[in-house]
Amino acid sequence: MRGAEPADAPDEAFTLADYERRARALLPPAIWDFIAGGAGEERTLRANEAAFERLWLLPRVLTGAGRPITGIRLLGRDWPAPIGVAPVAYHTLVHPEGEIATARGAARAGLPFVVSTFAGTVLEDIAAVAGGPLWLQLYCFRDRDVTRRLVERAEHAGFEAIVLTVDAPRLGRRLRDVRNDFRLPPGVAPANISGDDFASPAGHAAVAFDPALDWSVLSWLRSVSGLPIVLKGILGTSDARRAVAAGADAIVVSNHGGRQLDGSPATLEMLPGIVAAVAGGVPVLIDGGVRRGVDVLACLALGAAAVLVGRPVLHGLTAGGADGVAGVLGILLDELQDTMALTGVDSLEAVDRSLVAQREQLP
Ligand code: FNR
Repeated sequence: MRGAEPADAPDEAFTLADYERRARALLPPAIWDFIAGGAGEERTLRANEAAFERLWLLPRVLTGAGRPITGIRLLGRDWPAPIGVAPVAYHTLVHPEGEIATARGAARAGLPFVVSTFAGTVLEDIAAVAGGPLWLQLYCFRDRDVTRRLVERAEHAGFEAIVLTVDAPRLGRRLRDVRNDFRLPPGVAPANISGDDFASPAGHAAVAFDPALDWSVLSWLRSVSGLPIVLKGILGTSDARRAVAAGADAIVVSNHGGRQLDGSPATLEMLPGIVAAVAGGVPVLIDGGVRRGVDVLACLALGAAAVLVGRPVLHGLTAGGADGVAGVLGILLDELQDTMALTGVDSLEAVDRSLVAQREQLP
């Protein structure tokens, strides 16, 4: 299944970009494309990472903050750092142990793991090896019984929140997958939902996703689960306000890593407006293009409570299983500590808007 490793793929990984290069060298091109790609012309995909390039951190000196503490508290739980694993389908595409290895890797850092509805391994098995908080990402299917059973199983297995993805009434048109006629290889399938004909992710979504999903889904979800509900895929201020009014316990500012609406803005650009609109009502998380510790601190300075990381975790999993996942998360954590120390903040409570400036706004 795996392609040859070219000479330019680094043996050792010191950055998330090193892991990305390794993963690209190892994966068959169609699987690489499925992971790396976005919808349409991939404008939004590129915008997510590019937005970080326009933001500078403004260091403060002689603050005595050389030993920063990265811990936060979210939804009643302590996290060792404001970093979690974003929900990504089918970890078994890149590693035979799939989400089990990811959970082991995340456990080493004690960081949370949001498990996809389309996980390739069994929820209870993931829970058995997890070491940090586990959240279940939920796609709401036309078949509400399938959806409800998934939620009930997660709750029973000790998952601590439901992350309802709200930006997918249908799948975005991911042209790389269309051109590759992408199919899941034999042996890769969702392990936690009943049904058949999963081979084409786009084809399955077209049949199974509820295209009529609206805000009433929240009260339905409340009626089947007592877990906190996180809405993932909010990009606008009025939707953010509405989410709070509808009783969401947290939101994730996300454009699905550029895989849904191509032409939607970078998440980092929308973050400050959403934080202002929510006005402290619920924690605001963000994902999309976070690749360095500086990026994490930039998100927090703009008001995010935490970040989720998607593709880099799969790169780590591809390159080294649980060790690779632990490697990716460890690098981000080390870089976050470096960044905090060098910016002059010793705890995340001390991080605020005054630490960042858009390039264009500098005097
Ligand atoms: C995703 N994402 C995703 N989101 C979700 O809610 N449910 C899912 O099953 C998936 N599956 C998935 C597969 C793959 C291969 C990718 C790359 C992404 C989106 C994911 O949770 C997250 O929003 C983005 O990946 C964040 O952007 P970065 O960190 O990948 O830039």
